[in-house]
Amino acid sequence: MPPHTETTPNGYVKRWWKEAVVYQVYPRSFYDSNGDGIGDLPGLIEKLDHIKGLGVDVIWLSPHFDSPNADNGYDIRDYRQVGAEFGTMSDFDDLLAAIKAAGMKLIIDLVVNHTSDEHQWFVESRSSRNNPKRDYYIWSDEKPNDWTSIFGGPAWTQSEDGDWYLHLFDPKQPDLNWDNAEVREGVYDIMRFWLDKGIDGFRMDVIPFISKDKTFPNLPEDLRAKPQYVYANGPKVHDYLHEMNRKVLSQYDVMTVGEAFGVTLADTPKLIDERRQELDMIFQFAAVEVDRGRDGRWKPWTLPEFKAVFTRQDQALDRHCWPTFFLSNHDNPRIVSRFGDDSPQWREKSAMLLATLTLTMKGTPFIYQGDEMGLTNRNFTEITQFNDLWTKNAWQAEVVNGKWSAEDFFANQNKVSRDHARMPIPWTSGRQGGFTAGRPWFALNDNFQDINADRAIRDPGSIYYYYRDLIARRHKTPALIYGDYKDLAPDHPHVFTYERRLEDEAYLITLNFSPVENKVPLPPRLTAWLAGNYGPADIFDSLRPWEARIHRVS
Ligand code: NOJ
Ligand code: CA
Repeated sequence: MPPHTETTPNGYVKRWWKEAVVYQVYPRSFYDSNGDGIGDLPGLIEKLDHIKGLGVDVIWLSPHFDSPNADNGYDIRDYRQVGAEFGTMSDFDDLLAAIKAAGMKLIIDLVVNHTSDEHQWFVESRSSRNNPKRDYYIWSDEKPNDWTSIFGGPAWTQSEDGDWYLHLFDPKQPDLNWDNAEVREGVYDIMRFWLDKGIDGFRMDVIPFISKDKTFPNLPEDLRAKPQYVYANGPKVHDYLHEMNRKVLSQYDVMTVGEAFGVTLADTPKLIDERRQELDMIFQFAAVEVDRGRDGRWKPWTLPEFKAVFTRQDQALDRHCWPTFFLSNHDNPRIVSRFGDDSPQWREKSAMLLATLTLTMKGTPFIYQGDEMGLTNRNFTEITQFNDLWTKNAWQAEVVNGKWSAEDFFANQNKVSRDHARMPIPWTSGRQGGFTAGRPWFALNDNFQDINADRAIRDPGSIYYYYRDLIARRHKTPALIYGDYKDLAPDHPHVFTYERRLEDEAYLITLNFSPVENKVPLPPRLTAWLAGNYGPADIFDSLRPWEARIHRVS
């Protein structure tokens, strides 16, 4: 690739992915075209207009590969096959062509910290100690340490021959041994296979975990509940990412975004400083961890702590690093239930407020499917209503083993469960929300008759069109993309108000995170109203419940 030299007045090198808005699709839950109850690639093609209509630039497709689905596709059996439930390779090619024809780009999920235990490499690796692929995974003749899986339980499982293999997630997700050069070359070949089809980059699953400290120290006491901060700090992660960049990524004009679970803010530049040539961007978890206690359990959060995340992030990243902004994905609850107010009275206003935040913040915004219609969490009351193995493991470890009451368990899971995001998309108020003509793989939210795409599309004042308008505004406003960020009232308990400025062009964003009126905590300024969830307003100093406004300021 030729060097990129065009810079903004405040010193950022201009790149297409810094200016893009990304929309994440979880294909299993998007749209089922053939009535088997599982969303699929032809279904996504059929519904592409819904995504294109928002004006987003890039689609991130969660895993579409052949998988036994122990972790819904994040356990890949064959990286060069489309999962049979999703369609065929020719469906994938059609999807890519349709996305390009619609003027968008496609990034796919690269899950290469681990494979499925049914992947051919692991099948061979576990078959005998002398198998040439034994060293593709991480084996030990005794259990080396007390590492735990992110999903609960020990991170080591004993195989038939008595040796132990490492899995930082489920036992069906054995970790690859990246110290083996053949493994790395194998991964690079998989990447080239998809890049050569014309995809536009990768979201990389738990990528900082790829390098392991082979002295296998035990977990330090203070990180026992958060072992990701150990796993993300292997000795060679930067060597391997740099090698991947040099050998593969730098040969294409693509974007990468790493899921940086366990990476501190201080360590972030090591992954994304453009002079280091590793990744373009990462997902930072501080904002979505604001309501989690040390043990990962839900805790109440405050607006000042939430706001502080973004100032800290902005201060930690210089002009050579580019942030992302996301509040949700397939691993998180629904944003309107979590950071907004999902009561019938305020659901739409607060969802629009969160849209305003997402699309006026510094960093490439990622929108998760369904947030553009304000989908909510549901109220789970039985363990059988859940699908996620993480929740099921926790039920076993906590309730069945008598540590928590079922009541406490549900109260917590209703706040944190990944399943809130994984319910099928309601397209209509008809049977099964129009998601499938058959029986859905996972039940829809009970409120699909009120909250669905059809309703959103028919209502010109809907959340959907609000997203569309703000995406268009972001695209035409360089200050909202590259502008400097400043929180103007970091301590205010209910109002988030910040400025985005690029030279003399500046915007003031005011967000009332509360169901009651609040005063704008700033001295009066000369402003022009540009957008907001209550329509044009000539008032400056007071904010209605969940009001969001964007003003041009001089
Ligand atoms: C992160 C993914 O986002 C999550 O869904 C998955 O369970 C783990 N990585 C393991 O692959
Ligand atoms: Ca299907």
